[in-house]
Amino acid sequence: MIGESIALAIDLLKKGEVVAIPTETVYGLAANALNETAVLNIFKIKNRPSFDPLIAHFSSFEKIKPFVKNIHPKALKLAAEFMPGPLTMLLEKQDIVPDIVTSGSKKMAVRVPKHPMALEVLSALNFPLAAPSANPFGFVSPTSALHVEKQLGEKIPYILDGGDCLIGLESTIIDCTEWPFKVLRLGGLSIEKIEACLGESLAQNLIQNSNPTAPGQLDKHYATHTPLYIIENLCAFKNTDKKNIAMLAFGNFETNEDVFVLNLSKKGDIDEAAKNLFKNLRHLDEQNFDEIITSFLPFNGLGKAINDRLSRAAHKD
Ligand code: TXA
Ligand code: MG
Repeated sequence: MIGESIALAIDLLKKGEVVAIPTETVYGLAANALNETAVLNIFKIKNRPSFDPLIAHFSSFEKIKPFVKNIHPKALKLAAEFMPGPLTMLLEKQDIVPDIVTSGSKKMAVRVPKHPMALEVLSALNFPLAAPSANPFGFVSPTSALHVEKQLGEKIPYILDGGDCLIGLESTIIDCTEWPFKVLRLGGLSIEKIEACLGESLAQNLIQNSNPTAPGQLDKHYATHTPLYIIENLCAFKNTDKKNIAMLAFGNFETNEDVFVLNLSKKGDIDEAAKNLFKNLRHLDEQNFDEIITSFLPFNGLGKAINDRLSRAAHKD
């Protein structure tokens, strides 16, 4: 059931149920992070392998402190600047956090989402919420309540509707347990902004194999059912085989009569493109095209994260 009752969401979460909640990045599939049965249910509902750990969500950085230890001073700086916001930090965990949340790792991923409804829910609870993106494992993340309803509606008691996600890409994940800090997943907070705050460069560890530090970095992830191809020049594309093709374009783009065109941002705004990316991919995926074709966006700001998601969605085994 989709609804806007924060009180109902809080009540269900207190009872150990799994509830979908809005965040500014994507919708999350949330449950009490300190209740192992509740967390196990998240894995079951998502069909997620147990080796893939979950992010714990809190209403403020102050609330995170009792669950972690040895916080690096630069991590405090990042927290002061970007929490709440689309940043997830890996910190050393305390023993009170069940191992199932971190898949046995001594590091825990923590985040303070910025969506007012998520913050209201979290503030009313005396436990953090473990929450992966609210999609079946390996598929595109949901950026609206309806997206969640379509894929997981029958498996959960409630979807808290907070409208369309403002950012539309998952949080950026930084391992803050060792200096230099490492980027594990590109996401809704640009690397430029993080490096400007730190005054130094980040290391990158975007793992590409089957034993990842952040499985959001598996080669094939964020997949559509319709095959997706990335080509160099969309404008020059000719549909010579007369296939039923959809094109995901960006910026100033002449209409191509041979294909169906959806534009991520006609004015060439990368943040707008990020907000539209998953919604547009889903929309095209629902229409039985033979193929979806697209091109990389400029590699700056959120463009890097968008291109990362496109590459993974386009990955062929
Ligand atoms: O924006 C987001 O981050 C959303 C919203 C709901 O907060 N959540 C999200 O969660 O994208 P999920 O589970 O779909 O992606 C989290 C990624 C996974 O790739 C997971 O492997 C990685 O974070 N991760 C979580 N805990 C980790 C840990 N302790 N060590 C390494 N990677 C971790
Ligand atoms: Mg996910």
